[in-house]
Amino acid sequence: MYQTLLFDIRDSICTITINRPDKMNALNKDVFTELDQAMDEVYRNDAIRSVIITGTGAKAFVAGADITEFSALNKDEAMALAKRGQDVFFKIENSYKPVVAAVNGFALGGGCELAMACHFRLCSENAKFGQPEVNLGLIPGYGGTQRLTQLVGKGRSMELQMSAKLVDAAEALQIGLVNYVTSPEGLLEKTKEILTLINTKAPIAIGKVIDCINTAVVSDSAYTNGKSGYDKEVEAFGDCFDTADMKEGTTAFLEKRKAVFTGK
Ligand code: COA
Repeated sequence: MYQTLLFDIRDSICTITINRPDKMNALNKDVFTELDQAMDEVYRNDAIRSVIITGTGAKAFVAGADITEFSALNKDEAMALAKRGQDVFFKIENSYKPVVAAVNGFALGGGCELAMACHFRLCSENAKFGQPEVNLGLIPGYGGTQRLTQLVGKGRSMELQMSAKLVDAAEALQIGLVNYVTSPEGLLEKTKEILTLINTKAPIAIGKVIDCINTAVVSDSAYTNGKSGYDKEVEAFGDCFDTADMKEGTTAFLEKRKAVFTGK
C-alpha cells in the first residue's frame, strides 16, 4: 500500500516505519504524502489506539529532509515545502492518539523535527540528534526552531541550531529531548511496553491531555483558537464528565476493581 513506509497494526499499536534505507530514511515528497495518509488512517481506524514512528535499519531514524530535492527550489517553492512539512507534523502533534518516536539512529534536520513532533521520544544508545541545517546555509523548516526551544529551552536550542552540533543519546536524555535510552534491540519493546500501559487508560481522557498540553506550548493561534491552556483544561475537564469512561473509571475505583474503558 505504501512505497516509502511500513505500516503495521498489532495489539492496537500502529508502527509506522520510514523505509528508505538506502537514503538514511530521508524525507522526500513521497514520504510526506504517505505520512499524511498514514496519519489520516491513524485518526480514522478504531483498531489503532497509539502509534510508534521509527526508521528502517540500525543506522538512521531519519537523516533529514531529502537534500536532493532542495537544489531546484525557488523561494516560493521552498516556503510551500516548509508549510507542507509543518502541516504533516501538526497532524502528528495534534493526534488525539498518542504518537511516540522510537529513534533508532541519526535523527538529523527534518528527522529531529519529526521526532519532536511526536508526543514524546525514546532512543537507542547509538542515536544522534541535531539540527545541522546551518551547515547547508539553511535553517530548520518543519517546526524545529520552535519545538527544540520548547523541549530543551532557549539557550540550548540557540547553541544547537547555531553550531549544528550533534547530541548523543546520553545528552539527549540529560537535556530532556528523550524520556528513555535503551539498547538498539530493546527500543521497540520498551516503546511498546509504555504504549501498552497508556492503552489501558481512557482514550478520550488521553486525547484531552494531549490537547491541553499542546496548548501550553503551541503558539499557533489557529490551533489554540484564542484560548489559553487553562481555559481548554476547564472545558476538557468538564467534557470528561459526559463520558461513559469517566463514570466507569470512578465507579470501578469505588468498587475496588479495575476499570474497563470503551473509549465512549
Ligand atoms: N538527503 C538525501 N540523501 C541523504 C540524506 C539526506 N538528508 N542523508 C543521507 N543521504 C544519503 C546519502 O547521500 C547516501 O546516498 P548515496 O549512497 O546515494 O550516496 C546515503 O544516504 C548514505 O549516506 P552516507 O552519507 O553515505 O552515510 P554516512 O554513514 O557516511 O553518513 C550521515 C550518515 C547521516 C552523517 C550523513 O548522511 C549526513 O550528514 N546526512 C545529511 C544530514 C543533514 O544535513 N540533514 C539535514 C538536512 S536539512
